[in-house]
Amino acid sequence: MVTNDDLAELMDTSHDWIVQRTGIHERRWVDPETSTSDLGLEAANAAIADAGIDPSEIDMIVFATLSPDHEFPGAACFLQAKLDLPGIPAMDVRQQCTGFVYALSTADAMIRAGNADTVLVVGAEVHSKGLDQTTAGRDVTVLFGDGAGALVVQSTEVGDARHDAHVWDTRLHADGSFAEALWLPAPGMAYERFISEEHFEEGLNYPQMDGRTVFVNAVKRMPETVEEILSENGVTTDDIDLFVFHQANMRIIESVAHRLGIPEEKVVNTIDHTANTTAATLPICLDEARDRGKLEPGMLVVGAAFGSGFTWGSMLLRW
Ligand code: UT7
Repeated sequence: MVTNDDLAELMDTSHDWIVQRTGIHERRWVDPETSTSDLGLEAANAAIADAGIDPSEIDMIVFATLSPDHEFPGAACFLQAKLDLPGIPAMDVRQQCTGFVYALSTADAMIRAGNADTVLVVGAEVHSKGLDQTTAGRDVTVLFGDGAGALVVQSTEVGDARHDAHVWDTRLHADGSFAEALWLPAPGMAYERFISEEHFEEGLNYPQMDGRTVFVNAVKRMPETVEEILSENGVTTDDIDLFVFHQANMRIIESVAHRLGIPEEKVVNTIDHTANTTAATLPICLDEARDRGKLEPGMLVVGAAFGSGFTWGSMLLRW
């Protein structure tokens, strides 16, 4: 666990600044030996045990992360080897904060198309090792934490969408004209050499963010996609039992909830102790909602995310 005071020892920041601007009190950082697929494995094993399935039933892995163990192959392949499930398809989804919605949508589409029956959907991130832990990186570094979450998604007969547990719908969006508003510039094949001394000299190996632009777009796009998925499926915010929003900044979440006119008690937030765990955020929220007794079978859940890309999207689940 890393508190705001711990960060203030590394850089020019303070607990009060971080809490006032973001609502974050602490975050988790892995130990140096732990990789993203290690975190994914812990979440996957918990989800498999929770679903009560035998791991051999899994016929596809979709792994959402912006912080894979290696540039290639994807984290899904490393996780697959750790789970000892050779032969099944294993793919990464690199859609940053919206990664879990894209991954779930992919799993749902594969199942609906008859190409898979049981898909393991993982969101996991190790940010800490890639952040600038000096004052130069303070605007980004204080916002992020490491974490993982996973869901097992299985094919099912849906008689009545209003009662039977299933992924009811997902909505995906992107606008690449904002790609450089939140990005990790280097290393990359856009340069003469994939990796060079200049990258380090210019700090291009650390995430760069135009915080204000991200903020303004996040508070617009998340309510928009929630309204879209609800109206397309003939439900209203009153029908929803639980809202889970991407956890990037408490002020963003409050603004989104305000715009949608939803009561505080229907929203689950983890940001105070997790910070922004990017693609791991939504499954962590669902898990904590269940632990807090706010998520029970039969409930209608809507989730929304927004982040680098820009990408954004929503998911409507009958739990
Ligand atoms: O999933 C998407 C991920 N990212 C986001 O969602 C981020 C969206 N943006 C935000 O959450 C906010 O823009 C921030 C929290 C990043 C910044 O909040 P802000 O209210 O927009 O602050 P600001 O950027 O206007 O900065 C205010 C001041 C600046 O100093 P000056 O120029 O006024 O002297 C910054 O240098 O705060 C300074 N500052 C800090 N001070 C202490 C920036 N970071 C820090 C810090 N500690 N960690």
